[in-house]
Amino acid sequence: MTYSKEKIGRLVEEARVHRSVYTDPELFELEMDRIWGHSWVYVGHESQLAKPGEFITTTVGKEPVILVRDKADAIHVLYNRCGHKGSKVTARPCGKNSVFRCPYHGWTYQLDGKLQMTPHKIGYENTGFDPEDPQFSLRPVARVASHRGFVFACLASDGPDFREFMQDTIATIDNMVDRSPEGEVEVVGNCLPYMHDCNWKMFVENLNDAVHPMVAHASVGKATEKLMKSLPEGTPYPPEAEIIFPFGSAYDLFDSMKVTTMPYGHSYMGGEQSIHTGYSDIPGYFEALVAGHGEDKAKTILSRNRHNTTVYPSFTIKDAVQVIRVVRPISVNQTLIQSWHFRLKGAPEQLLHRTITYSRLINSPASMVGPDDWDVYSRMQESLQSNAAEWVDMHRYLGRDELVEDSDLKRAPGTSDLTMRNQYQAWLEYMTVETAA
Ligand SMILES: [Fe+2]
Repeated sequence: MTYSKEKIGRLVEEARVHRSVYTDPELFELEMDRIWGHSWVYVGHESQLAKPGEFITTTVGKEPVILVRDKADAIHVLYNRCGHKGSKVTARPCGKNSVFRCPYHGWTYQLDGKLQMTPHKIGYENTGFDPEDPQFSLRPVARVASHRGFVFACLASDGPDFREFMQDTIATIDNMVDRSPEGEVEVVGNCLPYMHDCNWKMFVENLNDAVHPMVAHASVGKATEKLMKSLPEGTPYPPEAEIIFPFGSAYDLFDSMKVTTMPYGHSYMGGEQSIHTGYSDIPGYFEALVAGHGEDKAKTILSRNRHNTTVYPSFTIKDAVQVIRVVRPISVNQTLIQSWHFRLKGAPEQLLHRTITYSRLINSPASMVGPDDWDVYSRMQESLQSNAAEWVDMHRYLGRDELVEDSDLKRAPGTSDLTMRNQYQAWLEYMTVETAA
């Protein structure tokens, strides 16, 4: 261990961070334990496990886990590690099982993780082996919580409970689900995976970085504008143009959207207004929402319009678009981003079409926007290895944050670096809390 509490403390200043936070494999391993092992990390959505026995596999930090619904309809998050020799009991991304059976020696587990059977029992007689001992089961993670179907896990038994941890980000999940006339959402299809050649924090910082779109995404913004201007007057803009064009907006628009931060590193941009506000109405949707919730509530739901909400470190959500992007760190310089898409139950199918179109245009490796970001992340990851300079800057709008009355929230113009400074305060708290001096 070469990182003392004091040494880690010297990596983060008020408005800059040391480049090693993105490049040092030892810091990455510490993050997996101290941040990803102690925060609430998004695992999956209950609609992916609609029936007993259905499961998905994923990771919490670097820990492989299984999210499964048992025969009594209870949800479990289990470490994907056989209690015998340690093999993953399943390598499938999703499926439906009546039990989990290890492919190595055939130890078999119930859906709640309890050891059900070991083959060739006579060899264990009078050895002191106790099949009831929990160490031989599929171990559950320390804590699991679900909010409106969104399941999070915490590997540590101590620390804030789920609601305290989530802060005001719960309102973004609620808004997305309330946009369903039936008040429920469901995952559609598999995720859209996008491997990034960068440290996980570069992606998380980008979510509410509003100084980059008009530069990094300028070409697609200009091309879309040219197309829109070429249309005969009165012609409705194609839905694809409505989605892409705002990415080329000026600094003023993003400043007016404002960013809001909260404890534990979370943040969101927008609120009443965002780059998603100007989308055309979808026929029949408002009427369905009114039928489900009443007119007043329907109007309130649609008036809330956040851009990206970041639940640090793992989960980012666009309520107005019904897309989440989930962060799965692989190594210090590799991060898998998974985009998942949701159907608003009871809403016209055209809404889901827009959700998928959004991801194809913005989030996909083959999109017109995502690769712009991928390119700059890769450049940063490479050049931060250079000895040219030691620090990465976060000075924009420093010292001009507003405190939101009667809350822990801070607010600043949309192009502020406040969200990054807030993330690094959380990073520092996680990374130094258990370190020996
Ligand atoms: Fe971007």
